[in-house]
Amino acid sequence: CGIVGCILKDNDSNAAPILFDCISKLEYRGYDSIGLATYENENIYVKKDEGKINEVNKKLDLPDMPGSFGIAHVRWATHGDPSKLNAHPQLDEENEIAVVHNGIIENNTKLKEELMAEGHTFRSDTDTEVIPHLIQKFMDEGLDLEHAVRKTIEKLEGAYAIAAISLREPDKIVATRKDSPLIVGLGEDGYYLASDSPAILKYARDIIYPEKGEIVILDKSGAVVHDEFDNVVNKEIDTINWTPEMAEKEGYDHFMIKEINEQATAVRNTLTQRENIENIIKDFDDITRICFVACGTSYHASLTGKYLIESLAGIPTDVILASEFKFSQKTLNENTLVIFISQSGETADSLKALDVANETSKTLGIVNVAGSSITRRAQYVIQTQAGPEIGVAATKTYVSQLTAIYLFAALMAKDENLLNELNNVPDFIDEVLKDVESIKSMSKRYNYAKDFFYLGRGYSYPTALEGALKLKEISYIHGEGYAAGELKHGPLALIDEGIPVVVVIPPGDSHKKTMSNLEEVKSRGARVLAFGAADDEELALKAPEVFKINPEVSEIIAPLVYIVPLQLLSYYITIEKGFDPDKPRNLAKCVTVE
Ligand code: G6P
Repeated sequence: CGIVGCILKDNDSNAAPILFDCISKLEYRGYDSIGLATYENENIYVKKDEGKINEVNKKLDLPDMPGSFGIAHVRWATHGDPSKLNAHPQLDEENEIAVVHNGIIENNTKLKEELMAEGHTFRSDTDTEVIPHLIQKFMDEGLDLEHAVRKTIEKLEGAYAIAAISLREPDKIVATRKDSPLIVGLGEDGYYLASDSPAILKYARDIIYPEKGEIVILDKSGAVVHDEFDNVVNKEIDTINWTPEMAEKEGYDHFMIKEINEQATAVRNTLTQRENIENIIKDFDDITRICFVACGTSYHASLTGKYLIESLAGIPTDVILASEFKFSQKTLNENTLVIFISQSGETADSLKALDVANETSKTLGIVNVAGSSITRRAQYVIQTQAGPEIGVAATKTYVSQLTAIYLFAALMAKDENLLNELNNVPDFIDEVLKDVESIKSMSKRYNYAKDFFYLGRGYSYPTALEGALKLKEISYIHGEGYAAGELKHGPLALIDEGIPVVVVIPPGDSHKKTMSNLEEVKSRGARVLAFGAADDEELALKAPEVFKINPEVSEIIAPLVYIVPLQLLSYYITIEKGFDPDKPRNLAKCVTVE
């Protein structure tokens, strides 16, 4: 889910068009319902419904609401089906308090029971609805909005970023957070709240980051932050260097294809982090073991990290899914470095693991979003320089994560050759992007498939996993990545006439054995799509379909380049099938629930 809030300095300005614009930028965080609440002349106006933003807007004309301030929400259902009643804003019984919420209130059932025993009636199935009811209860007891919100959060268990407005105390938005992201933007024309910076880039780039339990009060004169004792907290103001254009499609059909095309730049910009990384690793002389912790695409970047660090720096390295971390936390000690890879910096599973790792070990975050929770909680931070990524399926953040990991591993191992080789990666990526027509025609020939397999060995194994993930995320075709050598231990049974098998086969040590696996699937009727070197004659002979990549892309740097045609293949297959690659069903870009 995503939330925004906005209060304009000029009483005659309308907040709803701005709220609508901002909340539309957060559609990547969830898109099964949308709602806005604004205030004017002793009325709270609410428009909300289930459906994608554009569908709901066609029906309700969301920017057409009175008032110079308000709040808005996009929902990705966790408690209660997507429906008009369950959409936010959620209100109290008297429709005097409106609340938007991102996160999960874990003790909502108990709180609901208590409130019902006191005579409250509820209208939705959401966990959120208890919040406006609690605020109502405390305001009825005589508290102002700020203190009613404070008393409410004392009762809440779970994660939340919330923003509330009240009829009883107009001209004010009160917000707070715990374990869900919330930023405050200080603009020329007004003050803003949002789950993520792309929402408000157009209106404010001076940002403050409220901490857990702090209360933010926005009114026409500014944004004030109070700690739990009502003291004003002097917050540091951070200016974001992302521009509003970076979060626009700029003529591309989708964010995903724009972001795929920005990958050479993303790598180039992330390579500028070399000095920062050199400084950080000075503190890692005593490290005897490394653990990567991540989810999804970031997990695949981490797997590549394991191969690199173990072979280059000789440091034993594990890769742990963040949601499984608690089962191995006891093996950490002060000589362990735990590296958290995350594009959003807000993934709940990773944050939970980070808090635990901080107790025993050194922690390093490799994160794309400046100011996000992981950047504030990890002991060391490397910021990937991909710029804002809006498409749900990660592309340019993945190659940026890889770039940071390559720099880290090469600097740890003092491998000058690899450091030099990395400088060629942006050009190799651009060469692949020039050959987009081959991929488009491939996608037309293979979009019939119900299953795809992806094979790779060594450094190309995580590439196979990531290629398969990209396919299933956006095209809804079942894609399975395997270490090519594992094929004979099970999945070979599934290879049948006509099944497409993508083989990632760069030149190098693994080439010969991967070629044998290619033959194995071919002889069982698979349709092989090989991704290999342009001068690989053996491959040209053996594979009916080859996407040719510059032969100078060595096996070790292949993960940074070979993933690009696989992203393109998923994108164009998805276009062929008529789905929206930017907003895959059931998925969200930033998962703030465990
Ligand atoms: C979600 C996104 C994925 C992402 C994963 C981990 O599932 O849809 O694209 O890889 O979260 O997110 P993180 O922000 O921690 O990299």
